[in-house]
Amino acid sequence: MSALLETRELTAFYGDFQALYGIDLAVAAGEVVAIIGANGAGKSTFLKALVGLVAAKAEAVRLDGAAIGGIAPHRLVGLGLALVPEGRRLFPSLTVEENLRIGTAGSRGQWTLEAIYDLFPILAERRSSPATALSGGQQQMVAIGRALMSNPRLLLCDELSLGLAPTVIRDIYAVFPRICKAGTAIVVVEQDIGQAMAAADRLYCFQEGRVSLSGPAASLTREQISTAYFGLH
Ligand SMILES: Nc1ncnc2c1ncn2[C@@H]1O[C@H](COP(=O)(O)OP(=O)(O)OP(=O)(O)O)[C@@H](O)[C@H]1O
Ligand SMILES: [Mg+2]
Repeated sequence: MSALLETRELTAFYGDFQALYGIDLAVAAGEVVAIIGANGAGKSTFLKALVGLVAAKAEAVRLDGAAIGGIAPHRLVGLGLALVPEGRRLFPSLTVEENLRIGTAGSRGQWTLEAIYDLFPILAERRSSPATALSGGQQQMVAIGRALMSNPRLLLCDELSLGLAPTVIRDIYAVFPRICKAGTAIVVVEQDIGQAMAAADRLYCFQEGRVSLSGPAASLTREQISTAYFGLH
């Protein structure tokens, strides 16, 4: 596998507290990778380290082989990394369309407003509504759309399904193949093991800041995953 993104021995700290203890993870172009793990395992910290929100050593993160760890967040957007943060973080007083436009970050590519509206038609209908007037699922679609507007090569999603109804979660995951087909790889942090196995090509389980299991989603058993997830031995 030639990696689009690769981490080697990635560590992360909050002051004296070590949150990640050497994460080795790779994502190929066009691939969907899921990260699962219990609360506090380090999943969000890992995504934050990739986009420069948590400090990382330069050589611990490579994009197309180039060391990019520790680069400022706005420059990493320019290099093709985009984060859909936990809790969506939309601008509440702005409309759907204004929120989407903010994601553009001067980029050009196939993810235009029209392409986002084609991906999520409901957003076209709600384009002039303030973000706060939308349902949780629609807000999540705006958050994904805003990230896609920077035309990323790698879309990083933190807990997309949090607080959403199963049918809405299904609708959101249903667009993943179209996003990948357009050339964007996806890393998704997901609490629901079944959802992660269904959506991902490969899966990593984090436990207390380490990778406890990884492999093709189709080849891992639920038992293996439960053991890696809960740390049962
Ligand atoms: N800003 C912070 N300051 C100090 N410690 C933090 C900070 N953010 C996270 N941590 C700690 O780092 C560890 C990893 O947290 P992280 O948020 O990455 O876990 P997570 O796997 O995303 O958990 P969750 O499933 O609850 O979102 C936890 O022990 C957490 O308490
Ligand atoms: Mg988290």
